[in-house]
Amino acid sequence: MESTLLNLPEPARAAEKNTSAPKNRDHSIPSFWVRDVPVFGDAILAPMDGFSDWPFRSLCRDLGSAMSYTEFVRAQHIVMAYEHMAARLTFDEVERPMVFQIYGDDPDELVAAALRVQDRQPDIIDINMGCPARKVVHNGAGVGLMRQPLKVARIFKKLSAALSIPITGKIRIGWDECRSYKLIARVVEENGGSLIAIHGRTKEQAYSGLADWDAIAEVKSAVKIPVIGNGDVKLAADIDKLKAYTGCDAVMIGRAAIGNPWIFSRLDREQVSPEMVDRMVRQHLERHLAFYGVRKGMILFRKHALQYLKLQHLPRAVRTKIITRENPEEFLELLEQAFALEESETQEN
Ligand SMILES: Cc1cc2nc3c(=O)[nH]c(=O)nc-3n(C[C@H](O)[C@H](O)[C@H](O)COP(=O)(O)O)c2cc1C
Repeated sequence: MESTLLNLPEPARAAEKNTSAPKNRDHSIPSFWVRDVPVFGDAILAPMDGFSDWPFRSLCRDLGSAMSYTEFVRAQHIVMAYEHMAARLTFDEVERPMVFQIYGDDPDELVAAALRVQDRQPDIIDINMGCPARKVVHNGAGVGLMRQPLKVARIFKKLSAALSIPITGKIRIGWDECRSYKLIARVVEENGGSLIAIHGRTKEQAYSGLADWDAIAEVKSAVKIPVIGNGDVKLAADIDKLKAYTGCDAVMIGRAAIGNPWIFSRLDREQVSPEMVDRMVRQHLERHLAFYGVRKGMILFRKHALQYLKLQHLPRAVRTKIITRENPEEFLELLEQAFALEESETQEN
């Protein structure tokens, strides 16, 4: 791995709304630009705390995710040079365009953190304005910023003046029914932001309920900078549906990519053979162990293994037995048996 290690360390929308959605699938020309950074492709792995680490991001990038976002990192932890931040900001050159996502509520602290991580040469720095977790919003960070347009203006103005690389923002549609997405998107643009990613849910909805694709379309119409739409993309076909409905430049995929990174190659999980899953689990595990070490790597891999091993013919108890193995050889041996059984049962039926 050629990496940069820090020292601081469903709803299927039947009707198509916007017919002017870009139809470019020729990846030799950029799908869109984040200021001066070209992005080739229109499906992107969403930043996900606990998931979008180097092993998973790099696999998704191999399969077609158009750029890489890190898990979010607290600005204060960067400024205080906490060692554990290093792993979160480790990336591979082939992942570029590389986005470091940071969060905080203090404009000066965000600038100090961004300047510090800018030295590590990400292509873009993104400000999280969507996280609904209590520990993040209690002091006004994450989606808490959606209630503070003046502060968002200060943050983006200061960041875009201080940094040489583009600054972007990932938002929700608002804190509650009082939706501030259009205002915040404009504030980001007017103060130097170069892209908006919008998850079509409020803080109150968290991760359930319908994502509001109309709100995504409204943001796309309200700003000139590129817009990434996010929410309710479950199947490969939803990527084009969301683009067509909203006119957005690209689509971000979170939970549907866990256990199905092939979605970035426009494949649904049922189109992926047990053999392909088997190969992927091995490759993913190998990167996990190389990145985290065996003990931590095996434990952290469970949440991925759980999704990969949602096989039709594998009893739950056996799946649990497999994913809780602490020894990689034992895990791989049981895995091989599970996939052999799945192949033979699938062929018989
Ligand atoms: C486990 C988990 C962790 C997440 N962590 C982050 C994060 O660090 N930064 C961020 O901007 N969004 C984060 N999100 C939100 C996702 O990026 C995305 O907006 C959300 O999951 C909706 O997309 P989906 O329906 O495709 O999953 C997280 C979501 C999940 C499920």
